[in-house]
Amino acid sequence: MMTHPLSKPLELPCGVVLSNRLAKAAMSEGLADDNNLSTPRLERLYRRWAGSGAGLLLSGNMQVDCLHLERPSNVVIDGRGKTELARLAKAGKSPGVQFWAQISHTGRQVDSHINGAPLSPSAVEIDVIRGAGFSFATPKPMTEVEIWHAIGQFAFGAKQVQEAGFDGVSLHAAHGYLISQFLSPLSNQRSDQWGGSLENRSRFLLEVIAAVRKEVGPKFPIGIKLNASDFQKGGFTNAECVELVKILNEVDLDLLELSGGSLEQPKVVGVAVKDEGEDAPRASTVAREAYFIAFAGAVRKVARMPVMVTGGFRTVAGMVEAFEGGELDVVGLGRPLIADPECPRRLLAGEIARLPSPEDSLHLFHILGWYNIQLVRLGDGLDPDLSLPGEVAVAKFAQIESRNMAELLQSHVYQELRRKYDNEVDNQPLATA
Ligand SMILES: Cc1cc2nc3c(=O)[nH]c(=O)nc-3n(C[C@H](O)[C@H](O)[C@H](O)COP(=O)(O)O)c2cc1C
Repeated sequence: MMTHPLSKPLELPCGVVLSNRLAKAAMSEGLADDNNLSTPRLERLYRRWAGSGAGLLLSGNMQVDCLHLERPSNVVIDGRGKTELARLAKAGKSPGVQFWAQISHTGRQVDSHINGAPLSPSAVEIDVIRGAGFSFATPKPMTEVEIWHAIGQFAFGAKQVQEAGFDGVSLHAAHGYLISQFLSPLSNQRSDQWGGSLENRSRFLLEVIAAVRKEVGPKFPIGIKLNASDFQKGGFTNAECVELVKILNEVDLDLLELSGGSLEQPKVVGVAVKDEGEDAPRASTVAREAYFIAFAGAVRKVARMPVMVTGGFRTVAGMVEAFEGGELDVVGLGRPLIADPECPRRLLAGEIARLPSPEDSLHLFHILGWYNIQLVRLGDGLDPDLSLPGEVAVAKFAQIESRNMAELLQSHVYQELRRKYDNEVDNQPLATA
């Protein structure tokens, strides 16, 4: 039998080997408990994905700070819940599978009910589509002390996941979260060493990588997820990404995952809602199923570390073409692994030529809720329900999220941390950045 081109193993710079070229991309599960600790539901989900056939599994974003959450039911890695975290790491393990934790700090992208004064490089409010149900507060510009504290939180979080038994760590530097806020000239308007030139805007990322590497040692894989472009006028561009990757070539990184967009510009799921600036896709590139591939190709040309591209891959022919054409080393797959949790195995066995894409028949505003309800089903040990109507999923999702929010806001751990944080924020003079 001919081996599939995407079955080829890949040795990472740190010496760890990925058993094939398919990775399950990070997808926020929303299945932690009201104290932000891992749960048996999360374990069940990852036990299933451990048998998916993908050589690399990336967890959904775990937060390094309990008051900077992407949603109420994120896992938080602040030193609590070590036993639960170790059980989760074990659940995602299987021979030939690498299970890495994605770690993040949301910065200003946190619901205002959770944090009414979130930290960010500058006091620039998020500009999201009206009516989409988001509520974000004006952020507080970080002081020098707060910046170094956040860098330390990344290092501490990485150590937590390493000790829990995860095989590697991925730093979330994409999609408008804190690291990406530092990189973008729109959200970073500082005039000190953390803002201005690309060199200054990337200082936070470089310090985070250095601190994490120091904490986890040379043999533990570190990846990052970076925007190939923010696809936003005045934001972090593809040309800047290429320049940044030349800088990253000089540090110890094992995998560079490319994506794009943010809450302001949801290109992560292939949609633009405002002017895309200088990286607006040209007619020659829009025809490709993987919407970042043309931009990723420019980055891959200069990158010395392996490159993974995530976003829109649905046909095996498209993935093989990108791989054999030297546009990427690893194919990242998100939503298909929810709709069909074993699709990588089927793909590599040559049984399927196309992965499921239920989003094609869903209303844009229903997509996120629909996938989230399928994650809940998988966490409950059920199969995905592909016939679930979008509006039913969205109604259920809204109910679950508002219950999770209410439970978080009532949790003693959260309330105690919030009281401390609000006092500190009130007592500090606002930074001038
Ligand atoms: C439900 C859901 C949750 C997501 N959560 C995260 C996340 O926690 N971290 C992240 O980097 N990307 C996240 N993403 C983006 C995916 O990793 C991926 O980039 C995106 O879905 C595009 O890939 P796809 O077309 O294969 O789905 C999420 C996507 C979905 C659908």
